[in-house]
Amino acid sequence: MPESASTLLRATRDALAEIRSLFFASRSEAEAAAFVPTLIGVLNAHAHQYYVLDAPVIADGEYDELIHALRGLEERFPHLQQPDSPTQRVGGTPLDAFEKVAHPVPLLSLSNAFSADDLRAWYDRCLRGLDAAEPVPVTAELKIDGLAVALTYADGQLVQAATRGNGVQGENITHNVRTIGAIPLRIPVAVDAPMGAPERIEARGEVYMRKSGLEALNARLAETDDKPFANPRNAAAGSLRQLDPAITAQRPLDFFCYGIGPTTAAAPDGQHAQLRWLSDFGFPANPETQRFASIDEVIAFCEAWTERRDDLDYEIDGVVVKIDRIADQEALGFISNAPRWAIAYKFPAREATTTLLDIKVNVGRTGVIKPEAVLAPVQIGGVTVSQATLHNEDYITSRDIRIGDTVVVKRAGDVIPAVVGPVVAARTGEERVWSMPTHCPACGSPLVRLPGEADWYCISNECPAQFIRLLEHYAGRSAMDIDGLGSKLAIILPEAGLVKELPDLYRLDRDTLAAMERFAEKKADNLLAGIADSKNRPLSRLLFGLGIRHVGKDAAERLAAQFASMAALAEAEQETLEAIDGIGPITALSVHDWFRRDQNTHLWHALRDLGVNTEQWPEEAAAEVVEAEGIAGKTFVLTGTLPTMGRKDAASLIKRHGGKVTGSVSKKTDYVVAGENAGSKLMKANELGIAVLGEAELLELLPAD
Ligand code: IVH
Repeated sequence: MPESASTLLRATRDALAEIRSLFFASRSEAEAAAFVPTLIGVLNAHAHQYYVLDAPVIADGEYDELIHALRGLEERFPHLQQPDSPTQRVGGTPLDAFEKVAHPVPLLSLSNAFSADDLRAWYDRCLRGLDAAEPVPVTAELKIDGLAVALTYADGQLVQAATRGNGVQGENITHNVRTIGAIPLRIPVAVDAPMGAPERIEARGEVYMRKSGLEALNARLAETDDKPFANPRNAAAGSLRQLDPAITAQRPLDFFCYGIGPTTAAAPDGQHAQLRWLSDFGFPANPETQRFASIDEVIAFCEAWTERRDDLDYEIDGVVVKIDRIADQEALGFISNAPRWAIAYKFPAREATTTLLDIKVNVGRTGVIKPEAVLAPVQIGGVTVSQATLHNEDYITSRDIRIGDTVVVKRAGDVIPAVVGPVVAARTGEERVWSMPTHCPACGSPLVRLPGEADWYCISNECPAQFIRLLEHYAGRSAMDIDGLGSKLAIILPEAGLVKELPDLYRLDRDTLAAMERFAEKKADNLLAGIADSKNRPLSRLLFGLGIRHVGKDAAERLAAQFASMAALAEAEQETLEAIDGIGPITALSVHDWFRRDQNTHLWHALRDLGVNTEQWPEEAAAEVVEAEGIAGKTFVLTGTLPTMGRKDAASLIKRHGGKVTGSVSKKTDYVVAGENAGSKLMKANELGIAVLGEAELLELLPAD
């Protein structure tokens, strides 16, 4: 435990003893006056442990007991109330308007770099400007996608928080910023800080919202039918621009500092050192910041974060690169409103606005009806996007997305582009409200929406669109892997009347195929060979390929591991299915129901009779668990590349020895096994103090068998 945490715990124990003492309620005003600052200091230091370090050292109940005692004293002796008291985070009445404040030293903006070449050119300009023969050190920081704020502290107290505004004049948002738990009301925060409070200092940084916080906030807004926020940045801006601090207090805002404004203190030399210094005062500093000796390393850092940005729980839109030494910064100076000594390396954009031309609906293989946006083509991150998902009916109505709207479209990594929301300000009045069709666009049967589900379904057994999707899925690489059967043939074969149900595939012959227009002999032979091959696949592939609702690859593998054959699975009771590790009640019900329908029984019997494997393969069967000490009962998270074992084998070995493997790091995780290029999971493990193992150490835990 770090020194300050143990000092804090000692101070906490003393404070709790005082509060719990029989005589506490009858303490005199003078005694209370001496105790209140201690209590405030202890509480603020715990807030720092909780919000900034993500490492609380006392129970919530103890914190509540302390703050309750402080509230009691402040009620008994109102003039002992201090502005830095944690009871005063949300206080005051709503404002009528924001007051304008001038920034004593302007908040600048940044020039942009869009490539490694841009970065190199900027660095060369800096070196020339400094007349430097040798490379100069550079600090690289993540560019947090939030809102710039300037926090002024006088004698350690937070006295003002202002937005950037136009850089010269911003708005006073002190009342809102005080509600942000990560922002200290008084510095230094630590109870045993070696340095005193500077007479005056302005800390600058970014207020932002975590992605997880936004998700929870949007879920809460949906409950009251309020419009969700399109992205964390808008959510942070919208939350800070509240006149009533009580609303801001309910918004999960956070903060990272990135620089020092005017100060009376002697700050250390160097951007990197200054951030550490701010962090010693109790300001949250981003843990990814690094100081480099060459621009090549900076470029590698930028490229690595372009790939890894989605690993973080907050949005970043680039990397800010700063010449580290303050003397160098001063020598380089500014051009108009941006420093010469810093530059923002911007990641390729992932959002763009365009016109929503139409909304059409597609029928999926399970009959699910998916609304899709038809867009005026737009470039996002080097790719032309003309279609995007609109998820479901509620998604469209809750965001009030209308045909003709200018919409924000997002394309993140491999994810399918999605419409984020409309730009309401761009409306002309010509937009049309869309409504869900009542009948299937492919077969015309009425659509149904089950209670508790967001999607509409076509439940017709005869729907051609559903069958096309099912055939495509059945033949897919993760299912029956039928060579020669891609998305085009999945349309042609049913349309030609050759394949009306899956077993028809195995009834195809060369002559029928060859008779089809544009179907060369060789192609026919390839397809038939692919179909014949698919008779010999593991049971799990068939189970996945049948497109049973809620049975993905993982569930199919778990089911195939427990049952010797399709016939055995068909007989299984719902409770038996539910008892399988990793199979939830919804999947169990879906599988059980599937096998109770005559049509499905005919289907898999026909496939079996045509020679398709319906038996469990020996290697699919669940391995017997042999509990191993050090593994059994423990929860593991695997991250990064494990060069010898691979993550899949490592996971099955852990499970075979009685351990559990989960996907995300939490306090319940016992070990994180980190391979090469491990990312945010490793960071999280370090933050939470969870034991981290390398591949070799994991091997040591495993019994030699
Ligand atoms: S330094 C003179 N560092 O980006 C330097 N800015 O596009 C001024 N931002 O207004 C800013 N993360 O709101 C700096 N690590 C970081 C940043 C950062 C986010 C924002 C900031 C600024 C904008 C400029």
